[in-house]
Amino acid sequence: MTIWIPELASGTLPKYKKLADAIDQAILNNILKSGYKLPPQRQLADALQVTTGTVTRGYNESERRGSVVARVGSGTYVKSNKPSQYVRHDIDEDCFDLHSAKAPMGMQLEMITSALKQIADEQQMLTSCLSYQPEAAMDHQREQLAQWLTGRKNSCGEQNVLFTYGGQHGISLALQSTCRAGDTVLCEGLSFPGINVACQQQQLRCVGLQMDDNGITVESLKAACVQSHPRVLYLTAQIQNPTSVQMPLSRKKQIVEICQHNGVIILDDDVQFLPQYDKVSSFYQLDPEITIYISSFSKSFSKSFSGGIRIGYLVASEKLISALKVSLRASCWTMPPLMIEIVCRWLASGKMDKLEAWLTTEMAERNAIMQEILAGFEVTFQPHGFNAWLALPEPWRAVGFVEYAEHKGVLIRSAESYAIGRFHAPQNIRICTSAPKNQKQLKQALELLKTCLSETSISGSLVM
Ligand SMILES: Cc1ncc(COP(=O)(O)O)c(C=O)c1O
Repeated sequence: MTIWIPELASGTLPKYKKLADAIDQAILNNILKSGYKLPPQRQLADALQVTTGTVTRGYNESERRGSVVARVGSGTYVKSNKPSQYVRHDIDEDCFDLHSAKAPMGMQLEMITSALKQIADEQQMLTSCLSYQPEAAMDHQREQLAQWLTGRKNSCGEQNVLFTYGGQHGISLALQSTCRAGDTVLCEGLSFPGINVACQQQQLRCVGLQMDDNGITVESLKAACVQSHPRVLYLTAQIQNPTSVQMPLSRKKQIVEICQHNGVIILDDDVQFLPQYDKVSSFYQLDPEITIYISSFSKSFSKSFSGGIRIGYLVASEKLISALKVSLRASCWTMPPLMIEIVCRWLASGKMDKLEAWLTTEMAERNAIMQEILAGFEVTFQPHGFNAWLALPEPWRAVGFVEYAEHKGVLIRSAESYAIGRFHAPQNIRICTSAPKNQKQLKQALELLKTCLSETSISGSLVM
């Protein structure tokens, strides 16, 4: 059998680094495919006329870069077709997706088709949608959103709402309008990575707080207020991303008191899907003067429709809304009126509520499947939530397990992906039960994951 023999680059780099570079290049060029077993070290050393130690160091360097994985007694294998510093936006056809928190598709296609047909026949509306509109959108659109939210026990007026390009844009606008470079933003120690990115981009210091089974602890918030004088506290308290815990009302009330006392604005991110009747009062309901409520239709109320719809919204006091409008104008002026109109019609016709009811049933069924297949493992989840949080059995560690599961064909995320700053990530993984196309695929993906979990004999590479 012929073996892969790379051509090492010329230059002054150490040979082991040249070998690791050659492996990365061959993966990028699709010469080394996912799962390929690299040549035995001695054989490659002979072919390259270097010492076996150089090849060992080269393979170790590749493993450190995340391009290959070494299996004890078996050899070194290529991990994926791309070196791991490249974020995967594509999902291989032969990989099960349990890592993107997206809404399952039900009636969304029918909803968009009929809304587009309806608006296509309305000349006056189409003309308005083609014109510049105020940054806060058309009056009837704001009124519609406020009315819908009020009916969902998030009472507000049309002067309190602002449409955004989805939840992530809402987070950025909220930070822009409340913070200045160098300010401190507090959040859960494990949190939605979008807050980290937005803070970095705005040169804000993002500090992760200790959490227990009810979300961030009161003690850690009090201590951080004294030490860091934060401007903002960002929370995903309704259904925590990634741990799936829900903060009870009593804890929310304690947090509001501390924030009132320390002049801290709460960014209440309610983007992850949960049906209305599963929800605890929002921070906006508890104190609208110090809260910016962030949501979006990407996943439902939030997160029920689909990621591509890109319509989100903020709810805040009139004072905060005026500052948010300035940030909105600076970033994009306003949202496309046509997209807002489509969403508002779903709100008015009750179609969005029907979609929520369908998703609630679908997620209850999916999570029951997950509970049955993963019985015996320590899993935290909400009955209608998109994510589950699994504590890995020993000796698995989360980062290694994610790599192994990907190699076996199932994509999940490790706790490490959500760790803020130096926050200590536990050996947990996040499983999105909403991501597979249907329940059959979900079952297959979970069975595969369960098999991986039971393969505890693979304990990683030997490092010298
Ligand atoms: C907690 C949380 N907030 C915000 C977002 C971003 O939402 P959008 O896709 O609407 O920008 C996400 C996306 O996964 C999320 O999980």
